[in-house]
Amino acid sequence: MDYQNLLVGDRGAVRQITINRPDKLNALNLQTLQELDAAFRAAREDAAVRVIVLAGAGEKAFVAGADIAELATLSPVQAQAFSRVGQNLMRGIERSAKPVIARIQGFALGGGMELAMSCHLRIAADRARLGQPEINLGVIPGFGGTQRLTRLAGRAAALELCLLGTPIDAARGQALGLLTRVVAADELDEEVQGIADQLAAAAPVALAGILDAVTLGADCAMDPALEFETQAFALCCSTADMREGTQAFLQKRKAVFSGG
Ligand code: COA
Repeated sequence: MDYQNLLVGDRGAVRQITINRPDKLNALNLQTLQELDAAFRAAREDAAVRVIVLAGAGEKAFVAGADIAELATLSPVQAQAFSRVGQNLMRGIERSAKPVIARIQGFALGGGMELAMSCHLRIAADRARLGQPEINLGVIPGFGGTQRLTRLAGRAAALELCLLGTPIDAARGQALGLLTRVVAADELDEEVQGIADQLAAAAPVALAGILDAVTLGADCAMDPALEFETQAFALCCSTADMREGTQAFLQKRKAVFSGG
């Protein structure tokens, strides 16, 4: 498929999706949200893809938010639809059975922060800046930010970031649990590739089980969450990869997972 605002490429089993509007700091207009939805669907359905890396083009920004020029013209009904398109995209990323890594080299603001929070791992350069500045535009986060920020960093941090709108640096983002790792800018690609390769070599049914159990379990009572974990654990025990992983350990060799 041809995309106007995305670059899509593969490195082995790693699919890289890059938002490519660097002159607008990769701001999310409706077209870009729709293209991202299509690109993530395609990646989820492609059996050759094991891991997805999401990035923003250029040096300055992962994504500097929803496109404010477009936002400025929305009627309330259009705003509802815009919010739902973003929310559905981001819930789809969060519920992906394949791990998604956000590569954050600069600004991740507003919808960009919300997009990053829907990914499973967030690897950032030390110069990255994170925030929910929507309050400065007279609106609130509309792509799940009020909920994911609260779940990831707690109510106090969510209220601080959303009410004050002031961006935070990468060190604070990591201290709040919003960033998985923070590295020097010139080490970012190596770090992201290393983590992506590690995930690409792992057993995919087990990865999917972890993603499901952690994400669904977070919104459940303890007993159904534990029951879900039991069933996902049992499913892993039906796979060739489970036999390979356990035998490799017992035979004191490195496991090679086939994905079966
Ligand atoms: N929507 C639309 N366009 C955006 C944008 C957004 N969220 N963020 C940046 N841009 C555009 C700017 O309008 C500018 O376009 P222009 O060159 O045609 O004028 C271009 O991207 C570069 O941005 P600029 O503001 O000149 O860069 P800067 O380095 O001075 O500032 C930011 C960077 C991120 C601090 C600033 O762009 C900003 O505050 N962006 C909005 C952040 C925001 O409120 N996000 C939440 C949206 S709901």
